[in-house]
Amino acid sequence: MKIALLGAMSEEIAPLLKFFKDIKTTKYASNTYYETSHNGTDIVIAYSKIGKVFSALTTTILIEKFRCDMVLFSGVAGAISPSLQIGDITVATKTAQHDLDITAFGHDVGFVPEGSKFIDLDKSLIDIATTVAKVNNITLKKVTVATGDQFIANDKRKEFIKENFKADAIEMEGGSVAVVCHSMGVPLLVLRSISDTADMDAGFDFDKFLSTSAKASAKLLIRIVEEISKERQ
Ligand code: ADE
Repeated sequence: MKIALLGAMSEEIAPLLKFFKDIKTTKYASNTYYETSHNGTDIVIAYSKIGKVFSALTTTILIEKFRCDMVLFSGVAGAISPSLQIGDITVATKTAQHDLDITAFGHDVGFVPEGSKFIDLDKSLIDIATTVAKVNNITLKKVTVATGDQFIANDKRKEFIKENFKADAIEMEGGSVAVVCHSMGVPLLVLRSISDTADMDAGFDFDKFLSTSAKASAKLLIRIVEEISKERQ
């Protein structure tokens, strides 16, 4: 079995590169892929760069070139739901693309023909994440994630996303990675720790909390990888 561990930014995979040993580096399609093995499980780590296009490209390469059997995303997100605080760890139950808009043709926002507004993520990976979090005394909150090629730092756009998608958290890659994984029949987990609340302080909070929130998410991800390796051997 081969597991892809994906982030969007170098800070999101730095804790993974620190943890795993004997890493082989491969350059491909203007990006770097880090291959290793842990407890008999092959692992490929990469960060895609920010946004839907780069993350879709990297996910496709992880599946098609590196032949990964599942994709586990780790990183940070902005909170929409007032019940989420900076530092909380979330797992996505479904994703959407909040900036996908052909409403001019009478379609619902986030919907294009032959697609779907929401993609449900893999239930068994969510269950494993939930169990591992519980064993480690970590509160893991199940959320709907809205993805778009925008860093959200204003209440008006936040309200729009909340109203149209009932989203709890926002980020810039989950929805596009989900489209690729869903199309290819590859299970996906999206784990995100909250770095900001997408308001006017979001830019400042993001810079302040990126590293600690990314670490919290990556730490839980490593435990999830160890559990998956144990279960699927
Ligand atoms: N990722 C983390 N915080 C975010 C925000 N406020 N908007 C979009 N993506 C984010």
